[in-house]
Parts: sequence; C-alpha cells; structure tokens
Amino acid sequence: MQLLDGKYVSEKVKVQIAEEAAQFLSETGRKPHLVAILVGNDGGSETYVASKMKNCEKVGFKSSLYRYDSTVTEAELLDKVREINADDDVDGLIVQLPLPKHIDPEKVTEAIDPKKDVDGFHPINLGRMMRNLPCYIPATPYGILLMLQAYDIDTTGMHCVVVGRSNIVGSPMSVLMARNANPGNCTVTLTHSKTKDLKEQVLQADIIIAAIGKKNFITADMVKPGAIVIDVGINRETSTETKSGYKLYGDVDFENVAPKSSYITPVPGGVGLMTIVGLLKNTLASARKEIY
Ligand code: GUN
Repeated sequence: MQLLDGKYVSEKVKVQIAEEAAQFLSETGRKPHLVAILVGNDGGSETYVASKMKNCEKVGFKSSLYRYDSTVTEAELLDKVREINADDDVDGLIVQLPLPKHIDPEKVTEAIDPKKDVDGFHPINLGRMMRNLPCYIPATPYGILLMLQAYDIDTTGMHCVVVGRSNIVGSPMSVLMARNANPGNCTVTLTHSKTKDLKEQVLQADIIIAAIGKKNFITADMVKPGAIVIDVGINRETSTETKSGYKLYGDVDFENVAPKSSYITPVPGGVGLMTIVGLLKNTLASARKEIY
C-alpha cells in the first residue's frame, strides 16, 4: 500500500504556482486575484474559506473575502456577484456552498461570469467539460486528477466506481474519468443512494472514488485487493482530543481498507489539500486568460 500524500504533492505544486504567480506579477504589475463570498457561520465553510484565502497569500495571489450574515437576501448577493463580475482586478470568484435555504444556489452559480468561475460550477463550464473544450474543471475533481498524475498512475482501461453523484464531485468526476485522457480512459460506474447492489458494484472497482459524505461508509469487504482508493469525505465530528475541538473522518474506513489497497488517500492530508491546489491553478489560468 502506498499513501497518496496530499500534503507532499500540494506543497510541491504550490511552489510551482508561486513561481508562476511571481512571473505573472513581473509581466503585468498585478497579482492573480481570487474573491470569495461566505454567507453565514457554518463551521466547515469557515474553515475551508479561511484555508483558501491563506493559501492565496502563500503563493503570492491577492485574495478578498466578502462575508454576509445568513439573513442576506438573494437580491443583495446577486448584486455583489454582478459587481465583482464587472471588476477587472478580479480573476476568480467563488461563492462558498451551502447557502441558506432562502437563496437559490443555481441562481447564484449562474450569475457568476463563466470566465471568473474558478470553481467550475457554472453550466457553461460543466457543458464545456462534457465536450472536452477548455474550461475550469471543478476544484476537487481537478485536485484528484493532479494527485493521480503526481504518482504517475496510468488509469487507462481501469474500472472506476464513483460513489456519490453530487454536482461538485461525483458527477463531474465520472465524466472526467471516462474522458479520452490520462488520468481518464476508464470504464466508469456512477453509484448513488438508489443503487441496488452497491457493495457488488464497488467490489468491481480498480479505482474507487468515495464522495458520499458519510463517515467510514466504504468498508474493507467492499474493496477488491489492489484497488486504488480516493477518499473525498470530510466528515467533521466534535472531539475533545484536538485543539480545534473537532476531528475529520473520511468516507473510507481507512484502518481496514488501507492494507487491501494499492494506493489510498488519507483524511485529513489527502484530497482536501489538493482541492485548494485545483482552485489556485484555475485562478492562475484565469489571470493568464488561458481558458477564455
Ligand atoms: N462547498 C463544498 N465544496 C465547495 C467548493 O469546492 N466550492 C464552493 N464554492 N463551495 C463548496
């Protein structure tokens, strides 16, 4: 079993991004600029956005955070999105999800200029991804591709089973792993909560991508010996053992699955760190006008 080490790979890629950001600054006199909008006080969202902002500073990007109380109206939020769309100093805009119930996430996502949609959630970017056209790939799937690349894992001809069909991870991941590319060229099965024989499906996998959001959902009896296991889960539980007061668990029962796998990502220290790298790379690509 080999660990797919998100800390090691993300730090290595960030050094490269920092060099490219410095080059961009010397050529243009400005830094790549990411703006995040955070609504409410969800603990997970607070942590993720803080980490995104911190990592921007680390690689020499400018970052701005706009915070709103959970009582903000949809109209106010849409106005802010339009204002940022029109600001030439901004390269990337993300609105952290989930949003409060009275705000339609589809409306907000579609209001973001696709050219600044570095989360890759806008239907135009998702549509372009389906057609293999230049686009922003959603940050978590992008991070997973970068991780597989970093370990020279050739996925050609493999059977990839994705567990979970979210717009953010499972659905785009299934498309990317089936594309005529490497990583890619897989036969893909996309499983979800209504899949009848989930265990039998997962047992067929050469690569398992677990994005369900349930602690220890993938158990050792669901894993074929030698499978590659990518754990996207970030399940937070309060804990007295840690300084932060919470502990993170993946969607995979790491302790029992790891000995059966050929490669596996830990939680924390795996996919989560690569998601940030995906976001930074998309922001740099936007600044350099590489996609649009
Ligand atoms: N919520 C969970 N993951 C993400 C993400 O990658 N981007 C945004 N905007 N919200 C999220």
